[in-house]
Amino acid sequence: MTTGAYSMGLGDSDAERLKLLGQFYDPASSAFLEAAGVRAGDSIVDLGCGHGGVIERIAARVGDDGAVYAVDASADQLRIAQARLEHRRNVRFIHASIEDNPLRGRRVDWVYCRFLLMHVKDLDIALAAMANMLTENGALLLEIADVGSLTFSPADPASDLWKPWWYALGRARSLSFDVAHRITDALHTAGFTINRRDRQQPIASTAQAKLVHALGFEQCTNAYIHEVGADPRQIEAHRQYLHRVLYDPTITIALFENTQYIARRSRRT
Ligand SMILES: C[S@@+](CC[C@H](N)C(=O)[O-])C[C@H]1O[C@@H](n2cnc3c(N)ncnc32)[C@H](O)[C@@H]1O
Repeated sequence: MTTGAYSMGLGDSDAERLKLLGQFYDPASSAFLEAAGVRAGDSIVDLGCGHGGVIERIAARVGDDGAVYAVDASADQLRIAQARLEHRRNVRFIHASIEDNPLRGRRVDWVYCRFLLMHVKDLDIALAAMANMLTENGALLLEIADVGSLTFSPADPASDLWKPWWYALGRARSLSFDVAHRITDALHTAGFTINRRDRQQPIASTAQAKLVHALGFEQCTNAYIHEVGADPRQIEAHRQYLHRVLYDPTITIALFENTQYIARRSRRT
């Protein structure tokens, strides 16, 4: 199991960004879990749980009679999640890739994952692995980020410079950065029926919102320069733009769209 192709920082180096991410996306994730019907006593796995932001909410929801499996391919990420959740007795931490049968054949009522699938190499293999973790009546709960939908307003010649580099990096590492545009077809191919789809996009003018992007951008600049040939002067132009707008309340950022899917395996007739 490896996190070699993973594009963002791991462990402490991504703590601030993931915390801010949670500030903008956790409330909708909570509402999603509630709307899906996750309840006391259920079993659920969070794949690519990161620092465990959503696990906290999941563990409270299923209670001590429920079972939560927190899976991540990175030991550094899990270490932070584990420290944060040591008071929860119903969470088990598993250091594994989703493709490597992390539950060892065990099946759960819900397979949940947020902002993971863009980082996998093969969407079909990942979805097949998820299908294998579900009980017969279980459901898949996906939160899918469309990173390219992130925009600044009003736009500036330097505000979107990062987008071609981001997608080029995904192609260079054979990752699924275009997952938001492929997930519907991929779910059908994997034998899932989509029961429900909701979308939200946080829009704000605060420095915290802009930092979600700025911190992520800084984590990728080396790869942009060395792996996809980004011009360092253009990197600097975007960096300077971010410095200019960070505390400017007249500039708004629409963070990436998050589409939430509830999907179940289609019944064979
Ligand atoms: C963008 S973070 C999202 C973390 C968390 N789900 C959240 O929303 O805050 C993606 C996480 O997926 C993990 N990851 C990446 N590829 C993985 C794989 N193939 N199997 C398991 N975890 C993976 C990374 O280590 C990282 O912690």
